[in-house]
Parts: sequence; C-alpha cells; structure tokens
Amino acid sequence: MAARQAASTQQPRPGRRAVLGAAMAGGAGAAGLLAAGSGTATAAGAAGRHGGAGPGRLPVPTVVAHRGASGYRPEHTLGAYQLGLDLGADIIEQDLVPTRDGQLVCRHENDITGTTDVADHPEFADRRTTKSVDGTELTGWFTEDFTLAELKTLRATERIPAQRPNNTLYDGRWTVPTFAEVLDWAAERARKRGRPVWLYTETKHPTYFRSLGLGLEEPLARLLRQHRLHRADAPVILQSFEPSSIQRLRRLVDTPGVVLLGAADDRPWDFVESGDPRTVADLITRRGLAEIAGYAQGIGPTLDLVIPRAADGSLTAPTSLVGDAHRADLLVHPYTLRNENAFLPADFRRGDDPNAYGDVFGAARAYFEAGIDGVFADHPDTALLAAEDFRG
Ligand code: G3P
Ligand code: CA
Repeated sequence: MAARQAASTQQPRPGRRAVLGAAMAGGAGAAGLLAAGSGTATAAGAAGRHGGAGPGRLPVPTVVAHRGASGYRPEHTLGAYQLGLDLGADIIEQDLVPTRDGQLVCRHENDITGTTDVADHPEFADRRTTKSVDGTELTGWFTEDFTLAELKTLRATERIPAQRPNNTLYDGRWTVPTFAEVLDWAAERARKRGRPVWLYTETKHPTYFRSLGLGLEEPLARLLRQHRLHRADAPVILQSFEPSSIQRLRRLVDTPGVVLLGAADDRPWDFVESGDPRTVADLITRRGLAEIAGYAQGIGPTLDLVIPRAADGSLTAPTSLVGDAHRADLLVHPYTLRNENAFLPADFRRGDDPNAYGDVFGAARAYFEAGIDGVFADHPDTALLAAEDFRG
C-alpha cells in the first residue's frame, strides 16, 4: 500500500499524452501502413515524445498487444494479432526468428516445441535435438532446422494450456505466420480502417542466429523497405534485448528502435559474446541511458525495474528509471501486464486461484502513475480500459 500511495503522488505528464487524432489520420492514406512524410532521424531519433512524429503519434499510455492478444488466443498467430487489433490495441507485437532458408517467422522462441504441434509430426521426429541458445541448453525442435515450407505444415498451439485452457479451443487453427504475411495483413487492415496498423517487432537471439549465418537484421530491413516502413515516421517500432541488434538496424533503416532490458543482473547476450562486462544495471544508469538515446528512441524494461517487488511479491516504491529515461529523451514501454493472479504483484491478487483474474486495474494504475509511456499486455482490452484514465 505504501508503494501505491507513493506512486499515486505522481501525475501523468500531459506533455507525453496522445496527439493521436490529426497526426494518426494524416499518417494513414492510401499507402496503408505507410505514414505521411519522409521524416528524418535526429541524434535522439524520431521526434517521438516531443514532436508528435514517429512513436510520438501513439496515444499515451500506449497499449501493446503482447504477441497479439495472447491472453485470449495462441500467441503469434494471425488470429491473436487480429483480435489485438479488434480489441483496440495501439500496436501489435511480433517476435522474430528465422527458418533454415532465412525466412523470418513470428515465434517467441526458436524452440517451437511448446507453441506448435511439431511433436505430433512423425516425419520431423528426427529433428528433435539439443542445442545451446544464448548459453541455455534446450531440447526440442528449432525453427532454424526447418525450411519455411516444412514449418508451414505445422499448426500453432497455446503455450500455457494449463493456465489458459480456453485458448486451446484455437489450437491448430492457424499456422506460424511469416513476418511478410504480417506486413501484408497489416497493410490490408490499414487500408480497410483508413489508418495505420502499428507493429512492434523484436529480433530474438540475433547474435546466436548470426553465428549460424542467419542474421536477422538484413532480411528484416529488406522487408521494411519493401513495405516503405524504413523511415523514422513509419508505424513500426523495432526492439531487441541485444543493443547491437538495434544499432545494426539503425545502420540499415531509420525505423525507431527500443532496447529491451531484463533483470538488473542480466547481461545482454551480445555483450557476453563480445566480452562487454556491462549488465542491465549499467545500461539503466544515466550514462547508460544517454548512450542508448544515441541510437534508440526508447527502452522496454521489465515492470519490476519500474516498481520493484518486495520479498513477499508486493509492489514497493517506483525507481528513478522512468524519470531518468525521460530525461534522456527515451520512451518507457515496460513488459508484461497480464490479468491472471499468477503474474500480478502479490498485493493485487484476488483469491487463491493463480489462473483467476486479479486486480489488474489496480496494478496498471500503479505502473501508469509511475509515468510509463505504455505497456505490453496479454489482455489489451483490459489494459486499454486502465489506460483510459491516464489519457488526455
Ligand atoms: O518485447 C517485449 C516483451 O515481449 C519482452 O519479453 O520475452 O515476451 O519477448 P518477451
Ligand atoms: Ca517480445
């Protein structure tokens, strides 16, 4: 409670509120996904928070449909993306990994054991293997061992069926989408609704894949260029846990970028590979944030970096991260808000069922009051309702 009282003394900052209306309408046009104007990246990136350009055109707090509306549909399917859009999410998230033939597909992990029916395909039984990904040993089936044609014979399934049994209704309904398909889907939807469909696109394990000859950034940049989404004012935000991936993308396209941040003692895998000793704790110092602001428009920290949890799992007081990031001219889009008790801070859980919904509105209020610019949410409709109180 003390943490919530402390947080509630902080008001949303009007200067960062939406300038959605006219700017969004101006960004639609016949080109669908393509926003108006050519835009020019500045040292701190797109005009973003200040100029009402690039991500600055998004409503604040921005609600990101995390892996689509993954609270209601198997994640990273066109069904999950469409529902996210239908529920009103401001931006739809994709995680990208490559196939053996270098096609970008939407999966949270390259290990597809838990999110497809690959185990039911005897023709792929011999593809099951053990490998080390970013220092973690994994056994399963991996996208980089399948051609796109092979991967397309699989069907997507719910990742956490025990927690979200209703979502298994949709098991097998959709294939694993390619990013190219998502771009086509977004362009078509943009044309139909007369305004852009925003995408929030993450490169997964970029250093690992580059070591296999499957660099992610070049094909991603090619696709963005094909869809004219390579400009600073494109309705796309690129994201990665590996800063060097955002830096590489920055050299290829002007599309805005966000650096994702795990726990304070995490070390980005590109840092591990290059011998850079820094951890997330170093990246969120004022110096670290200023460096990020040289090539990215925002950060995507864990919610715990914004408001840490006490030993009992309840929220404490907000850290200085949001203010420090804003002083460095960086957007702050933390992850991940979920409705179920199991994922909520202890003081916002209701009852003993970990799969029942808790007081997600209370939790969201605490995070929004801490001044964040948006949030990744599995249940975007709930997050949008919570965000309404903070929009101008
Ligand atoms: O990209 C924001 C958030 O999705 C990061 O976490 O592991 O769900 O990709 P993850
Ligand atoms: Ca992600």
